[in-house]
Parts: sequence; C-alpha cells; structure tokens
Amino acid sequence: RPTTAQSSAVDLRNVVTGEKLDFSDVLPEGKDTPGVKQFLATGHNPYITDASCLKKGEQTFLAACSGCHGHIGEGKIGPGLADNYWTYPQNTTDAGLFSTVFGGANGQMGPHNESLTLDDMLQVTAWVRHLYSGPVADAEWLNDEQKKAYKPYKLGETFPDNPPGMCAKTGK
Ligand code: HEM
Ligand code: CA
Repeated sequence: RPTTAQSSAVDLRNVVTGEKLDFSDVLPEGKDTPGVKQFLATGHNPYITDASCLKKGEQTFLAACSGCHGHIGEGKIGPGLADNYWTYPQNTTDAGLFSTVFGGANGQMGPHNESLTLDDMLQVTAWVRHLYSGPVADAEWLNDEQKKAYKPYKLGETFPDNPPGMCAKTGK
C-alpha cells in the first residue's frame, strides 16, 4: 500500500493512536477549497470567524454531532464540547479538533472521513469553536485579536441567510 502523506505542512494525527491521518479515501468534493488549502498549509481553520461558514457548520453539527454531544455541545452521551475540559488536549488546536472529527476517538466517536468532506469538517469544527462558552484564556485556538473579540455563545443567536465569506454561495 503506498504511503498517503497529504501534502500538508501540518502534522495531522489520530488523537488516540497517534497515526498519521490517511487522506487516500477523502470524499472528492470539498477537498481542495481555498479554506482546506489554507488549513493544510497553516494548521489554522480560517472559518472560525467567518459567518458564512459558521451557518453551514451549524447545520452539519445538528445533523451529525448534536445527537451525541447535545444541540449546543453541552454534552449528552458524548462529552461537552463548549467548555474548557478536553479528554484529548490536542483538541485545543484547530489541527487536533479537525483530527478528532476526521479520525474519531474511542467508543461511539467514530471517524467522519467517509461521511463529511474536508470542507464540511472545517465548517463543523468552526461551529464547535463558536459554541465555546468557557473562559477566553483557555481558548488556545484564538489569536490575540480573536480573544479580544470573543463573546461566549448565547443560545438563540442567528446569522443572516447568506452572509458574505469564504463559504458563501456565489449565485452562479
Ligand atoms: C468525543 C466532536 C459526532 C460520541 C468527541 C470529541 C470531540 C468530538 C472534539 C473529543 C472531546 C474531548 O477531547 O474532550 C464531535 C463532532 C461530531 C461528533 C464535531 C460530528 C461531526 C459524534 C457522534 C457520536 C459521538 C455522532 C455518537 C454516535 C462521542 C463520544 C466521545 C466523543 C462517546 C468520547 C470519546 C473518547 O473519549 O474517546 N467528539 N463528535 N460524537 N464523541 Fe464526538
Ligand atoms: Ca469538554
């Protein structure tokens, strides 16, 4: 079997086994969007402050995650995702959180590499960050500017229908 190191500057590994993520079977759609390219080059998820991506990320979260993690990530059969405790400390980075969604963890937390596109995974993890309501000091995934702008998530927040941004519909 040929090695399948993705052409990524970032070292992406399964949070449980430490094995490199296998990109050979990723869904063809959404695998080289500008956002995915930027993430693979930098390890930073450019969608975490982009309303056009957050809206789509919320839809994916409600379809693929909330049944186990609760509709605002408050925890259910899976752990809470909106607080500052992480079973896997890697999840305080964009690369780690992405890797958890891509490759799964233990038990019911299965991999999503065959059900979500890479772009979907960036969108849904951006939404997980948006749901965060813990202390800003522990939000290691935010840079200083983002920390200044941080407001804890409040239930009932809404976004305009098709806000501008990297995930916006082009109308074409
Ligand atoms: C663990 C996210 C879907 C059940 C986790 C963790 C994250 C996460 C980040 C690790 C939390 C930590 O380190 O504290 C997501 C996202 C999902 C998703 C974004 C959707 C794309 C699901 C589904 C289930 C599930 C559908 C149930 C069938 C669990 C369980 C754990 C877990 C039981 C604990 C696993 C362990 O500790 O090894 N999830 N999850 N998750 N998730 Fe999910
Ligand atoms: Ca937690």
